[in-house]
Amino acid sequence: MLDASNANADAVEAARQSFGRVLSCRGAEVRIGLPAAVSLSAQRATVGKFVSIRSGASVVIGMIAEITASEPSRPGLHGHGAVARVELMGEIVRKLGGGSRFQRGVRDYPAIGDEVDIIGRDDLRVVYSSVATRSVSIGHLHQDHTIPAYVDADSLLSKHFAVLGSTGVGKSSGLAVILGELVKARPDARILLLDVHNEYTKCFGDEASIVGADNLKLPFWVFNFDEMTDVIYNGKQAVPEEVEILAELIPVAKANYHNYKSGGDRPALSKKGPRNQGFTADTPSPYLIQDLLTLIDERMGKLENRSSRIIHHRLMMRIEAIKSDPRYSFMFENANVGGDTLAAVLNQLFRLESESRGITILKLASLPGEAVDAVVCVAARLAFEFGLWSDGVIPLLLVCEEAHRYASADHTQGFAPVRRALSRIAKEGRKYGVHLGLVTQRPAELDPTIISQCSTLFVMRMANDEDQSLLRSAVADAAAHLLSFVPSLGTGEVVGIGEGMPLPARLGFRRLPQELLPCSETGSAPAENSSDLGRAELVRRSIERWRRATTNQTHWGEPAARPEQEAPAPGTPDATQSALARGLQAIAAEGRAPTQPAPRRLDPERYTILKR
Ligand SMILES: Nc1ncnc2c1ncn2[C@@H]1O[C@H](COP(=O)(O)OP(=O)(O)O)[C@@H](O)[C@H]1O
Ligand SMILES: [Mg+2]
Repeated sequence: MLDASNANADAVEAARQSFGRVLSCRGAEVRIGLPAAVSLSAQRATVGKFVSIRSGASVVIGMIAEITASEPSRPGLHGHGAVARVELMGEIVRKLGGGSRFQRGVRDYPAIGDEVDIIGRDDLRVVYSSVATRSVSIGHLHQDHTIPAYVDADSLLSKHFAVLGSTGVGKSSGLAVILGELVKARPDARILLLDVHNEYTKCFGDEASIVGADNLKLPFWVFNFDEMTDVIYNGKQAVPEEVEILAELIPVAKANYHNYKSGGDRPALSKKGPRNQGFTADTPSPYLIQDLLTLIDERMGKLENRSSRIIHHRLMMRIEAIKSDPRYSFMFENANVGGDTLAAVLNQLFRLESESRGITILKLASLPGEAVDAVVCVAARLAFEFGLWSDGVIPLLLVCEEAHRYASADHTQGFAPVRRALSRIAKEGRKYGVHLGLVTQRPAELDPTIISQCSTLFVMRMANDEDQSLLRSAVADAAAHLLSFVPSLGTGEVVGIGEGMPLPARLGFRRLPQELLPCSETGSAPAENSSDLGRAELVRRSIERWRRATTNQTHWGEPAARPEQEAPAPGTPDATQSALARGLQAIAAEGRAPTQPAPRRLDPERYTILKR
């Protein structure tokens, strides 16, 4: 129902346009007959347009899903020239205190002969402004640029959402608009943005706290067993014998630290033998990396079998190499000031103790590329665990760019624990106040169980057929018609679908000023340098920076064959000697990996490596 003024205005409009009449109504589908002239008029009846149907006292809103011309040999009722199939979506009802609002679902169904109009500006405004109490404007409607496009902030922060579209269509900019509004509308929520390309630093001004390689504190003991081995083996396949040793001794190192902190006897390793006292390799409790090394060393000392000793030695070398790699100082040095810093870690990532609203931007591109999977996994796991153990008192939103890399539909690719961590949030996060915002250019490559949990989708231009058909199968019929626009959307244009929107709609994201646009820091720096410096100077400086970044490294020898590929017959002293030498060389060769500069982007090749 409309209030009096709206009703008058619309009645005048209806008389002027006389758009069409209801021919039949079946469930939520209505067929309307249109005079042939309508399709030529300014108010053209085209697929995707909204119509309003005056049905008794209320106004029912629907979307044109299909339109066909009547055959001239069979002129329709009242001589209409075309028939449109309209899907009913909701109705405009009068509020108690005056004014009107839109609600989804239809109570008063249209009757045959009811008048139909292309929706007027006033009705459209009512539909798109009555989202919820906390709705935020993210741009304007395509159908009428003067009408702001609202989304429901509560819905985005109580269900999951996704921004989908090819590269360069404005996903990151759109995300910056959405998050900028969410931060203001929901000061109680905490947002962690996993910034894969270091591009959001300037987007949120003072609202954002920026966390990167220089200030991130993520102690190694916060990593669970899978994550820790992923870091130690640089995202490659782990050596099973070594992993067994770690699985056994990490809990012992944790027990030691616990005893030591509670005034007990820390070095009582050798006397009583290693005991884990109920700690597991996944318990998020602190230990000292030196304790772990000592435990491995002591065990090695007791071994008779030399090949087992080599395994122990190799593991120690691996841990030492990572520990002394300056790029991993966020795990080992800065973070390892001792003590139980889990609260500080959570606070840095989610600003839990801060009273003021805010968003944390985790600059993943500043971290070693091989460790990014593990760090994303830790962040997702910490978010979920904190939500779980705090009963979801603080709503958390984890926003993940390039989501298809972390939660690939192909389960043989990527780091399995990170997919598990994300799908756990997708499936159960709502109960604990933990939500996902996913951004991807390849929705078809994203784990379908994760994307099916997203209740609001912002779909931008996408050319790939597979991606489009996946989306069409995932959304309701009426919205599927809007998706037919997807290949032809302009930059910054989007089809919004789902619970966060009052109705599916084609809209344009608000334009951001140049200084607030997401832009990659890593990409812009060299361009600036190259204009000022000669090429030779640029190369010299790059080498210098490269060397400086790795000054803690020992000088590694030439690469050698992996010992497990060329294991000598155990037993003979010579054979063992050479195996040891080869083993050390192999580790030295492997240790070169961390000395490479951090890749600016994740290496897509790494996903071809089959993980354990
Ligand atoms: N909302 C917007 N406001 C201003 N410029 C935009 C907007 N959306 C897209 N653009 C332009 O398009 C470019 C690419 O957008 P971006 O968000 O980086 O795309 P994507 O993340 O999909 O690759 C931006 O650099 C900017 O010039
Ligand atoms: Mg982007």
